[in-house]
Order: sequence, then structure tokens, then C-alpha cells
Amino acid sequence: MEIASNLDTTLLDKVINLCKRRGFIFQSAEIYGGFRSTYDYGPLGVNMLRNVKQAWWTSMVQMRNDIVGIDAAILGPPAIWAASGHLETFTDPLVDCLRCKERWREDKINGVCPNCGSTQFTEARAFNLMFKTQAGPVEGEGATAYLRPETAQGIFTNFANVLGAVRKKPPFGIAQIGKSFRNEITPQNFVFRTREFEQMEMEYFVPPADAPAWHQYWIKERYDWYVALGIPEEKLQLHEHAKEDLSHYSKGTTDVEFAFPWGFDELEGIANRGDYDLTQHSNASGVKLEYFDQAANERYTPYVIEPAAGATRAMMAFLLSAYHEDEVEGELRTVLRLDWRLAPYQIAVLPLSKKPELEGVSEEVLCELRPHFMCDYDVTQSIGRRYRRQDEIGTPFCITVDFDTLEDHSVTVRDRDTTEQTRVKIADLLEEIRSRTKLPA
Ligand code: GAP
Repeated sequence: MEIASNLDTTLLDKVINLCKRRGFIFQSAEIYGGFRSTYDYGPLGVNMLRNVKQAWWTSMVQMRNDIVGIDAAILGPPAIWAASGHLETFTDPLVDCLRCKERWREDKINGVCPNCGSTQFTEARAFNLMFKTQAGPVEGEGATAYLRPETAQGIFTNFANVLGAVRKKPPFGIAQIGKSFRNEITPQNFVFRTREFEQMEMEYFVPPADAPAWHQYWIKERYDWYVALGIPEEKLQLHEHAKEDLSHYSKGTTDVEFAFPWGFDELEGIANRGDYDLTQHSNASGVKLEYFDQAANERYTPYVIEPAAGATRAMMAFLLSAYHEDEVEGELRTVLRLDWRLAPYQIAVLPLSKKPELEGVSEEVLCELRPHFMCDYDVTQSIGRRYRRQDEIGTPFCITVDFDTLEDHSVTVRDRDTTEQTRVKIADLLEEIRSRTKLPA
């Protein structure tokens, strides 16, 4: 029986609490009082975040002929950011409250200080969101470097390298997953907006005339990806940006939005960047970033369609969406109904007792499953408590090894969502789990 809906206003607190208690996400530098807006991913969080990124990589790179990956540097010289427009335009309007001196993003406060209620502010100033640092020991402009605020530019600057290395022609894409950094004025809402975060971006290069159709294609593909990984459609919506809200590079952007506890908000942006970036980098570097179409005997600058997602923000949406409280046999339970591909562990092997007789056969079960699935192993507490602990972290299958196992070479497979238990021969176990997860044999 379902007893708590996901629109519960305390949902965010519950998920933050679970994340800390069970080792998904910790406040960074907590022993020193915490470092605002930075987070560390614990033993379960690191598994889940890797799974989110792997699910993206599988659908964007592994399953397609037309997309390849790269992994570019995080540090970049000012030339990249001058050409991309970030030095000049990647700014937020910043105001200081005249009474309490707190700093705010002007566009986020509706004219009233959220801290003290004052309506008196300084004039707005443009604040650049890029982190600036020094590369090497030499002081001065030559050594200035920036931490990338988006992974996209590493793809544009490598356009000619990739084209020279792999035989691709438009339409084709280059994908990248990695850390980005923005000196956000008002980081907030747990890992929704942080200063250090991970992005999953793909730049899809197309003949200019085909750009509108590819834009629509990628909006649908990306929306469907979230649905396929378990986010119900009623928690998703598309939001097309008004012309005046577009980023400096965009000819049109549609966001996939998720129903966060504070309302619908951006999960991913899918933009038509036109030929803005390749043209800017061509002009600034003197290196032609074009495609030569031999069949038509013409040279052109491809347009770019860019689905840009946040890995850490997506993980938060998957957690919020999966969090449920229900009742099993008269007892309250918390369960994360995560898609098996995202769960930190797919399987928990649980010997019924700590007695040494069950150790060998439990080890045998683990050896069989570990090469294929991430497995947890737990011998502490009663079996009921252990089931609850696995439900709470989203483990889809618990496998119980008991004394009958020694006789019948079978184990009990318990399903997280239905709590149904089935007896399965150890020899058939891998096939059974594979068929339930619909992995190809
Ligand atoms: N290359 C285009 C680009 O970076 P964006 O809309 O600024 O576009 C893309 O960022 C995605 O990156 C966002 O939809 C969000 O998921 C994630 N993201 C952006 N800023 C973030 C932040 N401060 N913290 C966490 N995720 C962020």
C-alpha cells in the first residue's frame, strides 16, 4: 500500500537524510564545518553516479554508429573562453543588500532580500561565473587559466582533430562526460545547483538546413531517456525558452524539466547552437573548422544541436523520483524504486545465518554473479532488517542462502518492488536475473 506521494513537501529533506545516512552524498569538508555547495559521493553514491553516466554513454555512444566520445582537459587558456563568448557574456547580475550585505542574483530575488526583507540594493553588476586560476609558477596574463564552465568547448576545439581521426560526416556527434565549474552566486537545493558538478554533453554536427529537424529529434530522444530509466511522464515536461531568455550562442533551446519538490525546473537543455561556436573558434584560431562534402563539392560550417545534461542533477532527479514509502506486512518501509541499471547494487547476497556452513555456498553465489552485476554481501542482523536496508538503497534483488541450499542447491530470490520470493537453482541464477533485467544473454 502506497502511503506517501512524491509531492510530499518533506521529500527533499528525506532524500538528503537518506543520502547522508546510507552513504550516497556527503557535505564536503564536513569535519571542518562544511564547504558551501560542494559535495562528496560516498560508497553508494559513487556507484549510482557511475551508473547514471554509463546509462548516458550507452545510449549516446555505445548503441550508435554516428557518435564518438572524447575526454578533454578541464583547464583551458583564456583564448578558448574569449572565442566562446564566456569571458564577455557568461555573467549573472549581482546585487548586495544594503541592510544585511548578503549577495544575491538580481534575477532570482523579486526585489526583496530573502535574508532580511529589505528592498534596498546596490546597482546590479555583471559577475563572471568562471573560476580563474594560474597555470604554472609564472605570474601574469600568459599563465592565466580557467576551469571550464561547460564541457562543450573541448568538443568544438577538437572538431578538426576528431574529424581527421575518425571517418565521420554530418550528421555525427561528439560526446563527453566530465566536471564543470561555475562560481554560482546562489548555489542551492542540495546538488541541484553546485559550483562543481558533472555534465554529460553531446554536440551533434548537421548540415544547416537539417538543424530544426535534428533539434526536434534530440528533444524527443532525451525526454525518452529519462522515461526509459523510470521517471514517470507526469514528473517531466518540456519548456521552450522565449527568444529573450536564450543564451548568447543559442538559436533556440528547449529544456527537459523535472518536478523537483520546489516545482518544475531544468534537468537538461537541448539547444540549436547554429554555427556560432565553430565560426568563433575558426576566426579566433585561424584554423578552418568546416566540413568538406565531396559529393556536393562544397565546404560548409555545420550547425550544432546540443543535448546538455547534468549527471549530478540527473542523479538527484532519479533519487527523488524513486523515493517511496509503503507498508509491507504491517510495517512501514522506505524503498527506492530505482531502475536496476541505476541502483548502487543490483544484487545483495544474504546468508540466513552467520554459521560457517553457509559461507562456502554464499561465496559460490557471489563468484557466479559478481562479474555481471554489482553485488553487496551482508550477514548482519535479521533477514527482515536486511531486506529493509536493501529496499532503502534500491537493490532490486536480494538472494537468500539458507540451510536448504546445502541440500537443494537453490536460493531464494526476493524482488524489491513486489517483495515476492522465488526459489531458484544456483545453476539457473544468472539466467534468472538476466531475464528479469532483460540483459541480452
Ligand atoms: N553547454 C551548454 C550548457 O552548459 P547549461 O544549461 O548551462 O548548458 C547544462 O547546462 C546542464 O548542466 C543543466 O541542464 C544542468 O543539468 C547542469 N548544470 C548546469 N549548471 C549546474 C550547476 N551549477 N550545478 C549542477 N548542475 C548544473
